[in-house]
Amino acid sequence: MTTSEAKEYKLSADCELRFEVEDETVICELKSGLAEMFGTELMRAHKYHFRSGSKVAIFTYHGCVVELTGRPEVDYISRETPMTFYVNLSAALEALRTKAQEEDRCGPTLMVVGPSDCGKSTLCRILLNYAVRMGRQPLFVDLDCGQGCVSIAGTLGAVTVERPADIEDGYSLVAPIAYHFGHTSPDGNITLYNILMKCLSKSVEMKMQTEKRSKYSGVIINTCGWVKSHGYQAIIRAAQDFNVDIITVLDQERLYNELVRDVNSSVKVIFTPKSGGVVERVRKYRIEARDAKVRWYFYGTAKSGLYPYSFEVPFSQLRVYKIGAPNLPDSCMPIGMKTEDNLTKLVSVSPTAQTLLNHILAVSTATSVEDNLKVIESNLFGFVCVTNVDIERQVVTLLAPQQRPLPPNCILLLSDIQFMDSH
Ligand SMILES: Nc1ncnc2c1ncn2[C@@H]1O[C@H](COP(=O)(O)OP(=O)(O)OP(=O)(O)O)[C@@H](O)[C@H]1O
Ligand SMILES: [Mg+2]
Repeated sequence: MTTSEAKEYKLSADCELRFEVEDETVICELKSGLAEMFGTELMRAHKYHFRSGSKVAIFTYHGCVVELTGRPEVDYISRETPMTFYVNLSAALEALRTKAQEEDRCGPTLMVVGPSDCGKSTLCRILLNYAVRMGRQPLFVDLDCGQGCVSIAGTLGAVTVERPADIEDGYSLVAPIAYHFGHTSPDGNITLYNILMKCLSKSVEMKMQTEKRSKYSGVIINTCGWVKSHGYQAIIRAAQDFNVDIITVLDQERLYNELVRDVNSSVKVIFTPKSGGVVERVRKYRIEARDAKVRWYFYGTAKSGLYPYSFEVPFSQLRVYKIGAPNLPDSCMPIGMKTEDNLTKLVSVSPTAQTLLNHILAVSTATSVEDNLKVIESNLFGFVCVTNVDIERQVVTLLAPQQRPLPPNCILLLSDIQFMDSH
C-alpha cells in the first residue's frame, strides 16, 4: 500500500488480517461482521488507532469487512491460523473452571512457555480475554522480566484480569502485585529470580484463597523466552512453585519433549502451534517496547493521559540500594557464607550521575534494610526515574507518578532499566 487512502479487506470465516505499523499511525475500522484482536472483540464503526511498532492480527470466526487507513508496512490476509486450537484450549480450561467451582477447588493454572518471539504473551492475552468474556476473573502472572505486561520491565508481577484487554491500550492494571528484580533477563541474578518466583507464587495462592471468583477462574502464567540452562530450570521451578496443571509449549518440540521428561507426571504438557503471524522483533524493537512501557507508566496513553510530577530530593534523604553484590568464588567469601548470599545482599548505592542518572528506582514498601529478604519480598509502591543528579547542590531530580514527598523512610531499589524522559 503506498497511499494513505482507505483500503477494504474482505475476510472469510477463520481468517485473519495481519498488519504491521512502522512509522505513521494506521486506523482500523470494522465495517461489517464480527472480528476480534487477540481475543478482544472489535466494535463496529469505531476507529482504532495503531501506532508505530504495532503488530496486529484481526481475526474473524464468521467473516467480516475491515478497513485500514494509513500506510502499514506489511498487510495480508492469512487462512492459516492456530485460533481454532486456542479456542479449544480455552474451552477445555473453562470446563476445568466449572468443575473447580462445583467442587470448591482452585481453577486450572496454565503456564505458557516457548523461545523468544513465538507468541507467548499473545496466547496469554487470548486465553485471558476468552476467560473474561466467559464471566471469569483469572489471575495473570507475568514472569517475563524483559518486557513485563503486568508492570514495567525488571519486575515480576501478577494482576487480576477483570475485563478484556483494550484494543489500543492493552490490560487495565488495577492494583497489581509487583516485585523488584532489576534486570531484563533472569540470568541477571538467577538466585534472586528464583526467590521472587517463590514469593509471587505465595502471593498468588493467597489471592486465590481470598478472591472466590479468581479462585475458580485459575491462573495464566507468561514466561520469558530463555529456555536453556538456568532458563529451563526456572521453568521447571515455576511449574512446581505455582502448582501448574498445564504447560503449553509453543513452537519448540525439543522443549516439549524435555518438559514431558522432567516435570511431574501430573502436569499436562501440550505442544501448541505457533501462529505464522508472530513477528520476530529485533533488539531495537524490544528496547523500544520496554521504553514505551515506562512512558506508559508515567504518562499514560494517548486515550488516557497521566501527568507525572518532578521534584528534587537531597542526597541526605535518599536510601538507594542495589540487590546483589558481584559474585565471588566461595573461597573469597567469609566463613559460613555461600556465594548465593552475595546475590541477595543489599548494597548501598552512592548517588552519582554514573550510578543513578536515567535509572528507574523501585519504591519498596519495606522501610528497614536490616533483613534483606524482607526487602526483597516486599511489594512495590511504584517507580520513580532519576532525571538529574546535581553533585554541587547534592540533590537528585525524580520523575514520579505522585507529588512529593516520597513515602517516609522508603527504600529505593536500583534497576538496570533506564528511561530518557523526553517530555
Ligand atoms: N497472529 C499474529 N499476527 C500478527 N502479529 C502477531 C500475531 N501474533 C502475535 N503477533 C505479534 O508478534 C509479536 C511477538 O508476539 P509475542 O509478544 O506474543 O511473542 P513472545 O513469545 O511473547 O515474545 P517474547 O519472547 O519477546 O516475550 C507481537 O508484537 C505480537 O503483537
Ligand atoms: Mg512475551
